[in-house]
Amino acid sequence: MMRSRASRQLSIWIWCCACLLAMGNAEAQTTLRALAKTKGKLVGTSLSSNYIDNPASMPSGYQSTLANEFNVYVAENSFKMSELLPNAPANPFDIQISDLSTAKIDIMVARARENGVGMIRGHALIWHTQAPSWLTTSAPGWTADQITAFATSYIKAVVTYCKTINDAVDAPVRIYEWDVINETIDKSKARAKKRARGSAAKSSIGYRTGTWYDGVADRQAFIDAIFRAARNADPNLRLVYNDYGIEFYGSPKCNFMLNMVGGMVSRGVPIDGVGLQCHFIGPDPSGAGGFSSSDARKFEQTFAALRALGLDGIVTEFDLRLQTDSTTIEGNVTSQQLALQGDQYRLIVATALSQPNCPALVLWGFTDAHSWIPWACPGYGHALPFDRSYAKKPAYEGITTAIKALPTVEENKASSLTTTLPTVSAMTFGQALSNSTLSGGEGSVPGSFAFETLKEFL
Ligand code: XIL
Repeated sequence: MMRSRASRQLSIWIWCCACLLAMGNAEAQTTLRALAKTKGKLVGTSLSSNYIDNPASMPSGYQSTLANEFNVYVAENSFKMSELLPNAPANPFDIQISDLSTAKIDIMVARARENGVGMIRGHALIWHTQAPSWLTTSAPGWTADQITAFATSYIKAVVTYCKTINDAVDAPVRIYEWDVINETIDKSKARAKKRARGSAAKSSIGYRTGTWYDGVADRQAFIDAIFRAARNADPNLRLVYNDYGIEFYGSPKCNFMLNMVGGMVSRGVPIDGVGLQCHFIGPDPSGAGGFSSSDARKFEQTFAALRALGLDGIVTEFDLRLQTDSTTIEGNVTSQQLALQGDQYRLIVATALSQPNCPALVLWGFTDAHSWIPWACPGYGHALPFDRSYAKKPAYEGITTAIKALPTVEENKASSLTTTLPTVSAMTFGQALSNSTLSGGEGSVPGSFAFETLKEFL
């Protein structure tokens, strides 16, 4: 029987709708953002400052990947002090919101809102570098109290401004977490000592020197004060210590970090987590080296150690760079390197996100077209999951494979009723930890109270 024209049109329309729905589902299954949501995790990226400042110049591949793939953003540079406080304020010891260049924050929030992304990490309140030049000129003449007054009032101003964004009823974007201080533990002093005393000298790690805040002799008191200032300005903000080279349990820098944050926990200083930057090196052109299974075990132990302190571990700046055949930014790598990079991406993402106290994994960029690596580490590149044309690399598949293997939110809820957290020996953390912090044998509940309440923004 011949069907009527109207009936044929209806069938075509239903077929088209079915196709669109199927495409939507396929999309939902394949973007990192959609996958991560089913597992209750955040997968994010930093945003290049060029495109925060000049959105019109953003290539369409950059925009669509940014919008489709990630559910948390961080500004690669735009939230640093050189950007937010470029000019000398009237009273540097009592910074006001009016002293800040808040436009940078507004633009970042607008980018997130346009892309339907509800979560923004703040990076970084206090850092020795990318500080305004007026500060690096003035601060060496200040007393310890003046430096502390400057830092705490700056934090209060920035966090209070962000709180007004977070609290706005119609603003589905939240700056939910800040790196309160970045990279204050330093190994270079150890290297200098080593050079001076010969290679047999033991390496030592300490608080960084050569900073604009060198005038503060009691660094731990300074760090305590700035975390307290952040918590006072917004009790719902998650507060993080962020650094590189602290990823592997047992290394001197990781030990120092655990002592430092363990001491803060035992003194009741507000801190929710530690940002593990994770700027890793992948396989060399012969296919050797890179992130090994023994690295994965040490990485996992760091999360366990943080968990025992009630802290989260957040992967804040992940990339895995490859040695290229040239020192120019266009240097090439082998297809074997890219395939192995994919395996190592999978191992790293699986190790991190399978930890109950790892709520988020943030990449330091997503395309090899915009990565800090070729500039910071000449002779290396290809560190990110999308190539220069925004095509997915094996590294992208590594991330999706790892996320797919994670338990769903529901499975996690069910298993958390029966599992206990691993035990970490208090002795390995050294003197700064009070025995009582760890004496229970089991780790405490991860310090992700604020994160749980933020899941609606995913
Ligand atoms: C880097 C940016 O990627 C570069 O664009 C900038 O020139 C220097 O800073 N650790 C951090 C990041 O905490 O802020 C750094 O970002 C990379 C290392």
